[in-house]
Amino acid sequence: MIRSSRSLAAPPLGVGAPRRLLCSLFLATTTLTILATAATVRQDWEISYQFTSPDCVRKLAVTINGQTPGPTIRATQGDTIVISVKNSLLTENVAIHWHGIRQIGTPWADGTEGVTQCPILPGDVFVYKFVVDRPGTYMYHAHYGMQRSAGLNGMIVVEVPRGQAEPFVYERDHTVLLNDWWHRSTYEQAAGLAAVPMVWVGEPQALLINGRGRFVNCSASAPTMVEGCNVAHPDCAPAVFAVVPGKTYRFRIASVTSLSALNFEIEGHAMTVVEADGHYVKPFVVKNLNIYSGETYSVLITANQDPNRNYWLASNVVSRRPGTVTATAILSYYGGRSSPNANPPTTPPVGLPWNDTAARVRQSLATVSHPAHIIPPPAKPDRAILLLNTQNKIDGKIKWALNNVSFTLPHTPYLVALKSGLLGAFDERPPPETYDHQRYDVFSPPANPNTTSSDGLYRLRFGSVVDVVLQNANMLGANSSETHPWHLHGHDFWVLGYGYGRFDPAVHPATYNLKDPIMKNTVAVHPFGWTALRFKADNPGVWAFHCHIEAHFFMGMGVVFEEGVERVGELPKEIMGCGKTRGGGH
Ligand code: C2O
Ligand code: CU
Repeated sequence: MIRSSRSLAAPPLGVGAPRRLLCSLFLATTTLTILATAATVRQDWEISYQFTSPDCVRKLAVTINGQTPGPTIRATQGDTIVISVKNSLLTENVAIHWHGIRQIGTPWADGTEGVTQCPILPGDVFVYKFVVDRPGTYMYHAHYGMQRSAGLNGMIVVEVPRGQAEPFVYERDHTVLLNDWWHRSTYEQAAGLAAVPMVWVGEPQALLINGRGRFVNCSASAPTMVEGCNVAHPDCAPAVFAVVPGKTYRFRIASVTSLSALNFEIEGHAMTVVEADGHYVKPFVVKNLNIYSGETYSVLITANQDPNRNYWLASNVVSRRPGTVTATAILSYYGGRSSPNANPPTTPPVGLPWNDTAARVRQSLATVSHPAHIIPPPAKPDRAILLLNTQNKIDGKIKWALNNVSFTLPHTPYLVALKSGLLGAFDERPPPETYDHQRYDVFSPPANPNTTSSDGLYRLRFGSVVDVVLQNANMLGANSSETHPWHLHGHDFWVLGYGYGRFDPAVHPATYNLKDPIMKNTVAVHPFGWTALRFKADNPGVWAFHCHIEAHFFMGMGVVFEEGVERVGELPKEIMGCGKTRGGGH
């Protein structure tokens, strides 16, 4: 049972509060409003395996209080979220990441196993407590092994405080959580990725919209063809989104896919993009929207079509040759003659051609800051890190590497090791800052595919400005380069530019958009391209930065940044029950 409550709490006036109160009095009235109305949103979650049928085929999924996806967390800017997580998986650890929430002052609540905490052991309870300091659309998901793919995910919606305006208006919102889904367990997938030769699970069996989809081979005409298939199962009835004729709606869209880049469309309704990863976008209109794993968008649609029929919401794979049918949901008008869950009379939209990279790059370039909400980036970086993304091999196993180092997670979380001054918990040698960018041919497979692995991390000077350029390249096979959605924990970064081919540090920085770059927490690196971003290392903690494709991170496609760890407050003991921290080290 979900025990959820949103209680008005006293403003955060603990010990030593009077001085803080005095200071607050001189702050802007908006801050006062937030303080005055700050509330606590509490939920108790029990994590367990349950039989579910998201695509009409029975499969064990990791659930929250029996549900996948989990509940949408709704809060107001400034609220404190308190989620008590009980691990009832019996034989499996768990950790939950609040994707897009920066965890300012609470880096131990980021939920990244191996980076910010030890896993929550079976039978244990861990309480995540953090403030949602900025309005916007976010998500949460498991961050332990490949557990995210097993169903532990959901959305977070943070509203602006009452009386505060956003740069657009709408009647109400709908949440749309996009996912992909396999019938093989995450264990089987992970074992396959680590096997020689690699056993690849292949394209997903289904795409899901709010946890609902359809495996194409599970059909009413031949239900016994697939074990566990039941087309009448309530879990796989398509989601229905109801609208009142003439009104404008905000659709908050998040992608938590393990692999797929998606193209999303609402049949017959143009979408105005207004938010990306919690930041207001200079509005632009699209027929369909490309969304990568880890990204969120808000779009506005107006219910101005014939109300007497229904319309498809559709999600299709792009960037990889699709092997999965379109996922659908239904848009239905109140008061229309169509029953709300009746299939629309048309065939579902098929989206953009999967290999139309140019169209996807155009959308990336169109995503800039709303003119009234620009946060200007610092003019110059203090440090620039160039990361070459390559596919490589270690002992015959296929890996991903950055500057020829394939990332592995340490057993002792970095945050704990660094705060407690433990030596030998991870490789103390920092990973390389650059690669041979003058000579590396990004259009050919690596000349020497062999690489090494490390759990070393980048230590950033607190408060410094850091540029990261992600350089994509050809994979192990000829003429292939994939899209990688990179996600940074603990920060938003300015997206300064995209390019095709080899990034040249002597040329391309002059082309950066310093005028109105959008800030995001997840950004695509397009095939054979590069993406440049800038952030301020001003959030004390240790933060993962990785490709949001579950298999790619598992195979080493990530790095870790540390900044200001000496400023982090006392760590909760509950995050320390593993590795060198257990009982004084071993
Ligand atoms: Cu949503 Cu480290 O990921
Ligand atoms: Cu990737």
